[in-house]
Amino acid sequence: MSLAVVILAAGQGTRLKSATPKVLHPLGGIPLIEHVLAAARAVSLEPPTLVVGHGGDAVRAALGDRARYVTQSEQLGTGHAVRQAEALLQGHSDRVLVMYSDMPLLEPETLQALVETQARNPGPLTMLTCVTARPSDFGRVVRGTEGRVHSIVEAAQATPEQLRLTELNVGFYCFEADWLWSHLPLLPLSPKGEYYLTDIVHLAVSEGQRVASVTIEDETEIIGINTRAQLAQAEAALRQRVNQKWLDAGVTLIDPATTYIEPTVQLGRDTVIWPNTHLQGQSIIGEQCVIGPNTIVRDTTIGDACHIECSVVEGASLAAEVHIGPFAHLRSGARLERGVHMGNFGEVKNSTLGPGVKMGHFSYLGDATIGANVNIGAGTITCNFDGVQKNKTVIGDDAFIGSDTMLVAPVTLGHRSRTGAGSVVTKNVPDDSLAVGVPARVIRRLKAEG
Ligand code: UD1
Ligand code: CA
Repeated sequence: MSLAVVILAAGQGTRLKSATPKVLHPLGGIPLIEHVLAAARAVSLEPPTLVVGHGGDAVRAALGDRARYVTQSEQLGTGHAVRQAEALLQGHSDRVLVMYSDMPLLEPETLQALVETQARNPGPLTMLTCVTARPSDFGRVVRGTEGRVHSIVEAAQATPEQLRLTELNVGFYCFEADWLWSHLPLLPLSPKGEYYLTDIVHLAVSEGQRVASVTIEDETEIIGINTRAQLAQAEAALRQRVNQKWLDAGVTLIDPATTYIEPTVQLGRDTVIWPNTHLQGQSIIGEQCVIGPNTIVRDTTIGDACHIECSVVEGASLAAEVHIGPFAHLRSGARLERGVHMGNFGEVKNSTLGPGVKMGHFSYLGDATIGANVNIGAGTITCNFDGVQKNKTVIGDDAFIGSDTMLVAPVTLGHRSRTGAGSVVTKNVPDDSLAVGVPARVIRRLKAEG
């Protein structure tokens, strides 16, 4: 049995009032459409066919060859949208799964159940439904004798009595392909002047066919994104889902309500996350760490037993037992090796700090390679930018950089070298030497002192 997946993404998303196409709005840090693609992968490894219209170029640019594209140039309804995929797909699959692109919280297991139910169904389609007491703008599922699906009625066209129906049309359907392609042209024009895919349900029933259904239990799965309010609601629901996963996996969240972990992030057990912490992007955090409060970790790898308090850490990598903060900022290319301590108001960019480096207060290290066990005194700055290009600073193992040292790059300080407080280092300092002053000069060899 082969299955083609069609994702409808041509709608304008007018109700979001946005310059960005609806499906590219982020949820949990990744575009809505990525959530839908991820769910689709649970039932088919083939790239799905996306029906695009408004903002189609931006969607293509975002997804590239992970999807195939057909254009619906006029938004004439969901039925019309599916028809646009016919030329590409007809004769290529036994079944077609149709998904709407604005329902990002649907679980892969639910899609699997939908596809499996249709595989056993003698009729032409199976649809997803959800029973809820909450009123909404969803289409209502009308059932007739013996509880069989009779039709779907859109909320705008429903009678007051139909509006009270509690079973909703989710908007995902699995069809026998030949039946779908032959019946799409038969859809009637709706009172709104659109061809509703939902009308295909009654088309089947009126031919004496039986429409099967799979009913979703968890209402959060069907949060659809039509408005910014729904986007916020989905964000909260996704956050809760992700947080629950980590609680179950042995991570302590002091206050899940104010813990923001994107679905892309990995965490080790016995790590503790304090409130108002944002873990984002491709971040991997080890075991036994303590992160937060008030911390942002973005695209960063953190080893075991690290402590990060009230800090912003992006594009960095930390080995085990690194302590940072409060109020530290790691930027892209910051590599902190085992046991580094970085205190308040420090910034590190594109630099490696060797094992055991101490950088307690008010320092900036950029484009630097710092050896093991170096002490960076308060207020040390690598003057790495000369107005034209970035220059490198290299400091050897066990060096001691005095408070308020300016390291005018390119410059190299040797192993066990020292600088006096307030030095401005413009020339290389050899191993085992003390340099002081403005500009700094070497005044003493240190080795003899032991
Ligand atoms: C639709 C369903 C409704 C269901 C609800 C669930 C229809 C007629 N109604 O209503 O029964 O309860 O979803 O969320 O299907 N789209 C296109 N081209 C179009 C129109 C829409 O590609 O011409 C796409 C949209 O981008 C969206 C999806 O189809 O991904 C659904 O369209 P939308 O306008 O959001 O439909 P609803 O009013 O939510
Ligand atoms: Ca919708």
